Amino acid sequence: MFGWLTGFLANDLAIDLGTSNTRIFAKGQGIVTNEPTVVAVARDHMGTRKVSAVGREAKEMLGRTPTGIEAIRPMRNGVIADFESVSAMLRLLIRTLHGNRGLSAPRTIVCVPVGVTEVEKRAVKEAVSTAGAREVFLVEEPMAAAMGADLPITEPSGNMVVDIGGGRTEVAVISLSGIVFANSVRVGGEKMDEAIVQYAKRRYNLLLGEQTAEEVKKRIGAASPTGTLEEMEVKGRDVVGGVPKSVVLNSDEVRDALSETVSTIVEAVRISLERTPPELAADIVDRGIVLAGGGALVKNMDVLLREETGLPVMIAHDPMNAVVRGIGSTLDKMDLLSEIAVV
Ligand SMILES: Nc1ncnc2c1ncn2[C@@H]1O[C@H](COP(=O)(O)OP(=O)(O)OP(=O)(O)O)[C@@H](O)[C@H]1O
Ligand SMILES: [Mg+2]
Repeated sequence: MFGWLTGFLANDLAIDLGTSNTRIFAKGQGIVTNEPTVVAVARDHMGTRKVSAVGREAKEMLGRTPTGIEAIRPMRNGVIADFESVSAMLRLLIRTLHGNRGLSAPRTIVCVPVGVTEVEKRAVKEAVSTAGAREVFLVEEPMAAAMGADLPITEPSGNMVVDIGGGRTEVAVISLSGIVFANSVRVGGEKMDEAIVQYAKRRYNLLLGEQTAEEVKKRIGAASPTGTLEEMEVKGRDVVGGVPKSVVLNSDEVRDALSETVSTIVEAVRISLERTPPELAADIVDRGIVLAGGGALVKNMDVLLREETGLPVMIAHDPMNAVVRGIGSTLDKMDLLSEIAVV
């Protein structure tokens, strides 16, 4: 299908357009962009939208914007929720990379979650094209994660990868450069943050910002008991009185808040194991399961999955960048790309 494809050029790019973070890998250079997927949009008095900041700068504004400016997370559960904002963000990021060097429009390899609709895939292609790309190849995210984790995906043996992202968890069994079985659930790190917000509201009448909740998850959150009780002071607004207040949360409470999301992830892995063909299941018993994505960094996520499945569980090196490194590596491997690209 891609037989006419010639090698990629120096300005070509691999893009992981994630729910929480967007990363860009440039051929020959490695990861050149790593920014939160957030866009700040200003509206003038005529109601015309104009992007005023993207990435880290825009994320700082979440929950803190004055009237007239809106900080948007334009991706939801791994798919585009706000087409205009996504393509404006990508255009800005690509322009920043290419500067005024007068480079030709890049060819790009972009990831999409497995199990999204044709319409959702087409939206990604169009958003990246509108942002200035000359050509867009799509690769499924767990395939990219497996490559980034250095799994031997081209061999006739079963490799299981679990990518726990911000908006989605994807489980896939890969053999002979193809996805044999995949399961995708719409939960990930952001659901965990929401669960912490809900917990604080219910238990302490405290309204927390989503960035504070994310900090709590990273600092004292865990998927199963770690053996030490940790505490963290958090500040927010009292639901009843409306005044600012602070509360001390402990790691048992946070684990409790995360438990529903964590169970959904464990269940997705279990279902995938049950549906894996026996020969490949036997391979997974030997090789184990590899975790990628930011959710792999939740304390004891690996420990819990090991306990629940009885299989070896490893965290990929640099799990949050596994996907972009995986597709980035195909910028040098046209043959492989032609095997794994999807339409
Ligand atoms: N140390 C950590 N502990 C727990 N969670 C973490 C840690 N570091 C990052 N995360 C979480 O990982 C998530 C982001 O992961 P990642 O960048 O892999 O997602 P994404 O690729 O943007 O999303 P998706 O693949 O679902 O579209 C966020 O929810 C973030 O809070
Ligand atoms: Mg991801």
